[in-house]
Amino acid sequence: MRNLILLILGMAIGAIGAANIVNALRQRDAYPRGLMNVMQYHYVAMRGDVRLNRCAVNTPQHLAILRELAGGIETAVYAGDIPEPPFHEYDQRLRAALDAVPADTTSTDCAALAPALNRIGAACDACHRQYR
Ligand code: HEC
Repeated sequence: MRNLILLILGMAIGAIGAANIVNALRQRDAYPRGLMNVMQYHYVAMRGDVRLNRCAVNTPQHLAILRELAGGIETAVYAGDIPEPPFHEYDQRLRAALDAVPADTTSTDCAALAPALNRIGAACDACHRQYR
């Protein structure tokens, strides 16, 4: 009887501990995952704009937000630590792809935006293959 109680107690304490660890991990990831999901939203929205050939209205704003958010990836994922060199490299690649979109492309010419978007998507995928 005593052993059974100890066993149940042990299992309960173990379950609480595990739940705490899972919770802590989830909270640690909340910021980078939130950042990534917002980037995803704006990236998908830009792709939709191009597909509908409507790049004048919202596209410049999506692009501006993506540029802004991309600047925060390292802080979000590494929480102030210095990122590994390859990670930094992938981050630079995304920023370069975002910067390579010519300013007036977004407002006048959807077709010219399509290859730029492919480069941006490729930069996202490249980092995800190694780090996600
Ligand atoms: C320099 C590296 C890097 C780049 C560039 C990058 N990501 Fe990520 N991404 C990550 C990492 C790391 C994770 C995993 C985050 C986690 O689970 O804590 C991730 C996860 C994600 C997720 C899943 C989030 C979740 O809820 O689990 C999405 C969506 C995403 N990224 C979208 C994007 C988009 C869109 C781009 C390009 C505009 C992009 N990412 C560029 C590193 C990167």
